[in-house]
Amino acid sequence: MVGRAPATWAETAVPAGDAVPAAERSAAELARTAERTAASLLAPPTRLGDVVPAPEQVEPDGTADYLLAADAVIRVSADPAAVAVAGQLAALLRPPTGYPLPVTDTAAPVPAGGIALVLTDETALGAEGYRLDIRPDGVRVAAGTAAGLLHGVQTLRQLLPPTVESATPTTERWVLPGGSILDRPRYPHRGVMLDVARHFFGVTDVLRVIDHLGRYKLNRLHLHLTDDQGWRIAIDSWPRLAAVGGAGAVGDAPGGYYTQADYQRIMAYAADRYVTVIPEVDLPGHTHAALTAYGELAPDGIAPRPYTGTEVGFSYVDPSNERSYDFVADVLGELAALTPGRWLHIGGDEAFKVPAEVYAGFVDRVQRIVAGLGRDVIGWHQIAPAAHVDGRILQWWGTTGADPVTAEAVRRGARLILSPGNHAYLDMKYTSDTPIGHDWAGLIDVRRAYEWDPASHLVGVPAEAVLGVEAPLWTESVTTLAEIEFMLFPRLPAIAERGWSPRKRHDWDTFRERLAGHGPRWARAGIAYHRCPGLPWPQTVPAPRGSTSG
Ligand code: ACM
Repeated sequence: MVGRAPATWAETAVPAGDAVPAAERSAAELARTAERTAASLLAPPTRLGDVVPAPEQVEPDGTADYLLAADAVIRVSADPAAVAVAGQLAALLRPPTGYPLPVTDTAAPVPAGGIALVLTDETALGAEGYRLDIRPDGVRVAAGTAAGLLHGVQTLRQLLPPTVESATPTTERWVLPGGSILDRPRYPHRGVMLDVARHFFGVTDVLRVIDHLGRYKLNRLHLHLTDDQGWRIAIDSWPRLAAVGGAGAVGDAPGGYYTQADYQRIMAYAADRYVTVIPEVDLPGHTHAALTAYGELAPDGIAPRPYTGTEVGFSYVDPSNERSYDFVADVLGELAALTPGRWLHIGGDEAFKVPAEVYAGFVDRVQRIVAGLGRDVIGWHQIAPAAHVDGRILQWWGTTGADPVTAEAVRRGARLILSPGNHAYLDMKYTSDTPIGHDWAGLIDVRRAYEWDPASHLVGVPAEAVLGVEAPLWTESVTTLAEIEFMLFPRLPAIAERGWSPRKRHDWDTFRERLAGHGPRWARAGIAYHRCPGLPWPQTVPAPRGSTSG
């Protein structure tokens, strides 16, 4: 089931307007977006509690709205990272407002009416929390870290009218609803996985996905870089991996790979947004593309022909061949050198052809290679039977809610990222007639993506062992950025709320209202979201071109 989405699908989605990060939009794209900016004067005013994911505490003050004026300034603590966040705030607000919004450090004499970003030593805010105060005479975001300031900036963005997503100046009263927010994440790991192996997505697509993570306070991008159909990262010591193994993709789609410079561009963009990239090299299975490039790693020593289908479980690098460990050490060594984050993901799923004991021995060695590189290892939960190493993390993708082997690995010290296939797999169809995606883990509508609790999801796994949540997007049937967005929106914000908001703030009835309120923002940002039935999408903003539902 591969190929472009049929026309019926296109009727339910907004055409992607600007498929590149703001900094790189072309003039033509800006003009296209401008066509869509006129109509949101009718949008209902945003309320302080309309934020997704729901903040920990919200105290509205209906008498304290703030009006952003044309002469407003952005004041910021004199810290380079905080100044960079202030620059990002200015870059978000200047295009739609047309205001100059100069950034100035706090010591400078400034007129009242500005937005202040302040680094504080308030330890209660933690590594990512922030406090937001909106008063008639000014707005203040306080945090202990620049990451916390940026989360506060994303909240501010959501509290402005939807036209804040316009790429060109728009007539608008830039009102922020008065009151205070105190906000901190429930979990440290809140991620998305993008499979760039089954279909390849270029750097600008990945940067745009990083922007989407930032909107919803997600902080991990897991890149599934290698699989049977493609090897997507240049490795200097094994050059044919990308040059040969990267040539194809599922079906007739073009292949491709990231040069190391491309990859570093992704790292830098993510780092500026406090998103940590977790590269995955799937081992020992899902390695057919590598074998096409280096037949010596194959069990029979012969390089196979490229594979463009979508079956799984047939390939593996030979665990009895020492060259396989040279390959793993070289690849992970180069990746570690290119990756600032703390984690390397070694896959480990669906190595059906490798006997269990051989598999466990292979994973043991690969885990030690990762430890030797000074990194912590992550693997799909199939790596559970291997020995414990410090910092080991398993990623649960099952659909059962119970797995004694995973629970036992947790008792031995592993911690868990939850990506239950039947709630968090965003390659699953919304409904049976969704024209792309799969259904082996079930149909996942927005409510199903929302209604589960990471802390109690897996029997025998204590809440303290759960590091957070991750929404994987496998791309056997996903071929374009618009299709990525169609599968992520509106379900990704549901997973984000599971990962960020405290349990007591999870509530489907308010979530669906808050979520639907973001439709006009996505439309204006050119995000090709799925306007699925059953959500109260606002009527005040014209429905996306071609839309048939509402
Ligand atoms: C997986 O879905 N094979 C991790």
